[in-house]
This record gives sequence, structure tokens and C-alpha cells, in this order.
Amino acid sequence: VREYLEERSADLAVRVERGRRRPAAGPVPGTVYIVGAGPGDPDLLTVRALGLLRAAQVIIHDYLVPGAILSLASPRARLVCFARRGRTAGHGGALRQAAILAAMEEHARAGRSVVRLKSGDPFVFGRGGEEMSWLASRGIPFEIVPGITAALGCAAAARIPLTQRGVSSSVTLVAGHEAGGKNGTAVEWERLPLGGTVAVYMGVGRAAGVVRELLEKAGFPAATPAAAVACGTRPDQQVVSGTLVELPRLLARRGVRSPAVLFVGRSAAFAAQEAAGRESAAQGV
Ligand SMILES: C[S@@+](CC[C@H](N)C(=O)[O-])C[C@H]1O[C@@H](n2cnc3c(N)ncnc32)[C@H](O)[C@@H]1O
Repeated sequence: VREYLEERSADLAVRVERGRRRPAAGPVPGTVYIVGAGPGDPDLLTVRALGLLRAAQVIIHDYLVPGAILSLASPRARLVCFARRGRTAGHGGALRQAAILAAMEEHARAGRSVVRLKSGDPFVFGRGGEEMSWLASRGIPFEIVPGITAALGCAAAARIPLTQRGVSSSVTLVAGHEAGGKNGTAVEWERLPLGGTVAVYMGVGRAAGVVRELLEKAGFPAATPAAAVACGTRPDQQVVSGTLVELPRLLARRGVRSPAVLFVGRSAAFAAQEAAGRESAAQGV
């Protein structure tokens, strides 16, 4: 028994803590929980997300949510994924989005507890708002559970302080590509604060266009530090860094693919320092 308890002590501590703070933490039948799964590392799930994931009867998830997180669901849970890699609902799959809404309704009306699991945070480029409004309009009870959005997870993993006194006084999250806009976004590039950090989601496929907009419309100098973090917080995380003008070439040379966040601004220089530090440590310098 001691061995059993020791092996599961961390897990038990989470359960006890959750129980102490929230006596009725379990999912309510017929309710949809729109849950942020964070950027990929299962340790970055919130306690609430973990509890719901373990107990929900149905999990409707994005392709970006990795197996390491899905494996935390109850073995009895029904796992449903509508979007294929590279063709997410967010990338224009109107039919798929309709199927997701229908599935949420069907399971909730059947009295099942449903977790709608989204990568990162549901309200950051995640269609969480649209799904919430739809559930509200149908009278289906729901709860929003926030998650660590990709920019925060990737910045921490690459040691990029998004704001820092004397370096960056703001952080702006923008989309490099949006559903419906084949080549662009509704971002007001001319209004981005130059004294802060810009984190670009969904920007890798359009990196040349995004960089052009940052240079020509936003007015960032060509030598502004820039970095990209792909598969941030996951075992296959990749970090590249350089200057803004050379970013598209660097991404192509290093084969950086989606999902990735691009960081632009003086704080992005910390990614290069971090990589240099790791290299010297590896060489014993
Ligand atoms: C449809 S958006 C979803 C964003 C998500 N709701 C969030 O808050 O992170 C997909 C984009 O998120 C970013 N992303 C998600 N997970 C990531 C990760 N682990 N590493 C790097 N970028 C990621 C990429 O820019 C990707 O193209």
C-alpha cells in the first residue's frame, strides 16, 4: 500500500487539493466544458482541466491536442476529433465546425458531460467565443476553463520575457492568417506598439507576408530581434532566432513548420542568448 501511495503521491495531492477548494469539482451531466489544454505539455494543464478531462464522458478535441494529454482522459470516455492536421476548423472548415456544434449538442442533450478540449486557451484564436455563443443560444449549460495560450507557453519555454522593464512594455497577440482571409488578416499592422513584443500565431505558412507587414506597415526596423518557437513545450520543440528581415529564410532553412509562434521585438533576443548559453554549456565553455 505504501508503494502504491508513493507512486501516486503527486496525483493524489492534485486530487486532494482540488477537492479541498471545490467540493463539487466533477463534471455535471448535460454540461459542455470549453477547456483550454495549454500548449502541449501535460504538466501545463490547469487542475480544473485535468479534473474535467479525467471525469468527462465525451471529449471533443482539436488535432493540436497531443496524445500525452488525451491519454489522461478516462478509458471509458468517448474521444471525438473532427479536424485533421493542417485543416483545422479555424482554417475554414465550415462544415467541420457545424459538425462540432452538432456533436456538442447531441451529447449534452443525451445527458453526457462533454469536454470541448482546445489547444492553448479557448478564447485566444480558438473559436471558443463562437462555440460559447452557440451553446448559450441553444440553452445548453456551459463553463469556460482557461488554458495557457501558445504565446505564453512558447515564451516561457524559449525564455523570452514578453514584457520587461526597459526592454518591452507591451505584448500583442496577432494572427498571421485567419479563417476566411486567404492571404491576410484584419490586424491593424500600422498600430502595433514598436516598444513591445508581438507574438504572431498561425504565421509560419505566410512568414514572408507577415514579415513584410511588420517591416513596411508596422515600421519595425529590419534588425529587430525575432524568434520562432515551433511545437513549444513539447518534446519536439524547435527554437530559431535571428533578425526580423532574415526570419523567413531562417524558417525555411531550419524546416520550421506549424504549429509555431513568431516573436518580434527586443525581448526576442533572449531566445538567442538562451540558445548560445545552452551551446556553450554543451561544449563545456
Ligand atoms: C488555431 S490557433 C489556436 C491557438 C490556441 N487557442 C492558443 O491559445 O494557443 C493555432 C496556432 O496556435 C499556435 N500554437 C498552438 N500550439 C502551439 C505550440 N505548442 N507551439 C507553437 N505554436 C502553437 C500556432 O501559431 C498555431 O498555428
